Amino acid sequence: MKGKLYGIGVGPGDPELLTIKAAKILKNADIIICPKGKKGADSIALQIAREYINPRAKIKPQVFPMVFCQETLESHWNENLEEIKFDMDNGRTIAFITLGDPLLYSTYIYMLKVLKEKGYDIETVPGITSFSATASTVNLPLAEGDETLTILPLVKEDEPVEKVLRTADNIVVLKVSHDPKGLAAKLRKYGLEKNFVMISKCGHGDENITSDIGDLEEKEIPYLSTIIIKKGGQFHV
Ligand SMILES: C[S@@+](CC[C@H](N)C(=O)[O-])C[C@H]1O[C@@H](n2cnc3c(N)ncnc32)[C@H](O)[C@@H]1O
Repeated sequence: MKGKLYGIGVGPGDPELLTIKAAKILKNADIIICPKGKKGADSIALQIAREYINPRAKIKPQVFPMVFCQETLESHWNENLEEIKFDMDNGRTIAFITLGDPLLYSTYIYMLKVLKEKGYDIETVPGITSFSATASTVNLPLAEGDETLTILPLVKEDEPVEKVLRTADNIVVLKVSHDPKGLAAKLRKYGLEKNFVMISKCGHGDENITSDIGDLEEKEIPYLSTIIIKKGGQFHV
């Protein structure tokens, strides 16, 4: 009998934000796949989920490089995919753990698409997203009434980013570390320099919160940083 793949969202940092369903699956899985950006790096998802994992489970790190070269990406993805297919064909229960929610900018999505097409048994278990957790950390509503909420990964060209800044009521910016200075300039351009809050490493020991535009312009911004921009308010944290 073929095995099953679970895509498990482990939330953004605080292990208590992992769902009971995810914890139950991690307790019984044979294999835990933990994605990482490069060989030898720590898997953040594994650090978050570790206390829930079956002590007899085999932990298999897989490298998903953070590069834009499609060829390099696909060669790593396909190698990882073959490993998962092999274990599923041998009847194993696999938990593929991802930061936040598995269906939001996650390496799991590629695996899901290919394996679903090939008829494998897959179940996705949602996780608390980085932006839900960051909003809660500062007790800030993401959207109210008829307001819009736009999710903006900061890897786009200038004009699409500016279009969102011009048109959305509330904006969640992910992948801020790609271009914090460029974003700061655009916030100033649209008079939004006092309308944002950035939470870095939310739920981790070294969490940081700022509404100071100078931090975006001058400081090193960690990869795990999310910004919430609200047209309707100014932030003082
Ligand atoms: C590849 S996306 C993954 C998003 C994730 N699947 C989710 O549901 O939030 C990575 C981005 O998520 C955000 N992020 C993830 N964890 C975070 C944390 N603990 N604190 C702040 N931002 C975080 C950052 O913007 C980071 O660049």
